[in-house]
Amino acid sequence: MDDPRGSRATRPAIDMRRISKRFQRVSGSTTVAIDEVSLSVAPGELVAVVGPSGCGKTTLLRCLAGLERPDEGEIHIDGKAVFDSARRKFTPPERREIGMMFQSYALWPHMTVAQNVGYPLRCRGVSGRQTAARVSAILATVGLAGLENEPPNRLSGGQQQRVALARSLVAEPSVVLFDEPLSNVDARVREELRLELVQIHTKLGFSGLYVTHDQEDAMEVCDRLVVLKGGRIEQIGTPAEVYRAPRTTYVAEFVGMVNRVGVSAAAYEGSSVLLTSDLGRLVAAEQPATDAADPATDTTTGAASGSADGELTALIRPEHVRLAAGQAPPEGAANSWPGTVAFSLFRGSWMQYLVRIGDVELSVLSADHSLRPGTAVVVSVAPEHVMVRSAR
Ligand SMILES: Nc1ncnc2c1ncn2[C@@H]1O[C@H](COP(=O)(O)OP(=O)(O)O)[C@@H](O)[C@H]1O
Ligand SMILES: [Mg+2]
Repeated sequence: MDDPRGSRATRPAIDMRRISKRFQRVSGSTTVAIDEVSLSVAPGELVAVVGPSGCGKTTLLRCLAGLERPDEGEIHIDGKAVFDSARRKFTPPERREIGMMFQSYALWPHMTVAQNVGYPLRCRGVSGRQTAARVSAILATVGLAGLENEPPNRLSGGQQQRVALARSLVAEPSVVLFDEPLSNVDARVREELRLELVQIHTKLGFSGLYVTHDQEDAMEVCDRLVVLKGGRIEQIGTPAEVYRAPRTTYVAEFVGMVNRVGVSAAAYEGSSVLLTSDLGRLVAAEQPATDAADPATDTTTGAASGSADGELTALIRPEHVRLAAGQAPPEGAANSWPGTVAFSLFRGSWMQYLVRIGDVELSVLSADHSLRPGTAVVVSVAPEHVMVRSAR
């Protein structure tokens, strides 16, 4: 038998197994909002859920919170089953002990800040004195000490969002769900709140899911990242893993900026991949195993035999493109082309350039601030920074 203490330590805080949720449209058609999603979150871990509008992020959170009843699957929180379709088990939201924070602050205007924040405690029958003490403590944690008696609509957007944060944390839930919590506040407040959220998470140690369409949010706040596509998990990993080795073009484009270069043929040479691309000959270093594109084995693309027209694409991050002033690349240099700066954008410590190489335009991030539009440049990319993926 397992040591029960050991198993408790490694038991996931959230464990979703093959969760599916379908909705009936008014027209009678069915939408699959969540499609067999399995995901587990370790104690203290904050996992970001990213993806475009409509990919199922909110539905996933609502299923966890008990606000939506999945059609299939199981959900365990801190080792307890709160949903199990086979056993017809469904724990209602108020008995799941989950904190939730939404994009709309969802504060009650007729209640003071303290009454709003204390609401989850009153629902659990905590005494008035204890509630007051815990409300003051959590308000201090989110930087709102002394505002207990204000009505929420007298506060700024950022402060209202802090009230909402305090309310989601006041009952000390082991699991907190965030649904685009920072997308309603302006950019500066967002950065400030983001940093504080990281600190509060470190201090309080809750586990949770953090839904956002802002990739900076996702990368800075969270330990791991889940990319959703059409209700399914497309990739899951640390922000660095997902950024450096996106499994698909969809992931690469969603997590960070990326240039796409069309590929018409691909062949292996040793461990490198030789591409015939819109940039001409393009060498890519050995590719990690991806479901999407392995030119050597993916028979559906026909890549191994040479032709890959429209099936493959080469992905290059803007910060991996090197620019040097000059007319022509050195003779025989791999992945080097003559280009022209078409456009430049000042972005603080970085410059963003649009560089034209024949018919191809590459977006480039560079620390070199000196290049003006019209400048002739030599453009180069190291083979290890060329990612070959399925174009779809
Ligand atoms: N109550 C509902 N009734 C019908 N369709 C819904 C309902 N809620 C969500 N959907 C559909 O489910 C899909 C996922 O929606 P949602 O989870 O809100 O996505 P996201 O939060 O990623 O934008 C969408 O196609 C949406 O239209
Ligand atoms: Mg949503």
